[in-house]
Amino acid sequence: MTAMSNRFRKMGKRISFVPTMGFLHEGHLALMREGRRLGDKLVLSIFVNPTQFGPGEDFKTYPRDFNRDCALAEKAGVDILFTPDARDLYVKGSETYLHQEKLPGHLCGLSRQGHFNGVMTIVAKLFNIVVPHFAVFGEKDFQQLAVIRRMTKDLNFDIQIVGHPTVREPDGLAMSSRNSKLTPAQRDAALSLITSLRNARRSVKNKQTDSNQLIDKATELIQSYPETKIDYIKICDPETLDDVSNIDRPVLMALAVKVGKTRLIDNMILTPDS
Ligand code: PAF
Repeated sequence: MTAMSNRFRKMGKRISFVPTMGFLHEGHLALMREGRRLGDKLVLSIFVNPTQFGPGEDFKTYPRDFNRDCALAEKAGVDILFTPDARDLYVKGSETYLHQEKLPGHLCGLSRQGHFNGVMTIVAKLFNIVVPHFAVFGEKDFQQLAVIRRMTKDLNFDIQIVGHPTVREPDGLAMSSRNSKLTPAQRDAALSLITSLRNARRSVKNKQTDSNQLIDKATELIQSYPETKIDYIKICDPETLDDVSNIDRPVLMALAVKVGKTRLIDNMILTPDS
């Protein structure tokens, strides 16, 4: 992979990189289109990274369909599909992991201990191997994007990190490989995430600026669906992810909810009218 990247670089080509865990959907295809737009060569990686899954999480049951992914990648104009093996990436004796001080201490980082250490470690390794000019990530994983931006700056990676808006199903559900695990009834319940975010956005436009009230409303709606279990609903500063109690500037509303056994996340920026 690195030899190919070096060759592209010698030819003066700009390399875009989209790291994924596969089971590609329209959201990933949008990241690839953005990658194609930014650079001359597009690298897509597929690797279900074991170190970002905690004990009892869905590493083993994470959806996988390698042949379908290959066909989609080819159709999307990917130049290099990089599909490393866990034994190659985490060679025997590997014992170095990245850690970040503040951002992982919020939102998903609280219930997924060590998750962002795993994400940062694999992304840094992939950055070192792929040596891209651009790396494109979805804004659905808002905290991941923030952590990676911070890591890229802190570790002096010469890579432009590009965020891409969340891609949604026609009914609003944020696209995710995990949506494939939902039963029809759970999929219905899953819509309570985007409905809650849209309700909050409307309330903020109507000058309701008390975060707790908005969170209570969202909690009530989501809990009215069977099989939902809220991990968190937060209204916070989009940069620091610290809680914001009065919405007097653009804030991030982020939520994580288990629907059945499937953990879903979504978020939206809420902007008060000035
Ligand atoms: O967002 C993902 O799919 C993963 O967290 C990533 C960035 C590919 C790292 O494994």
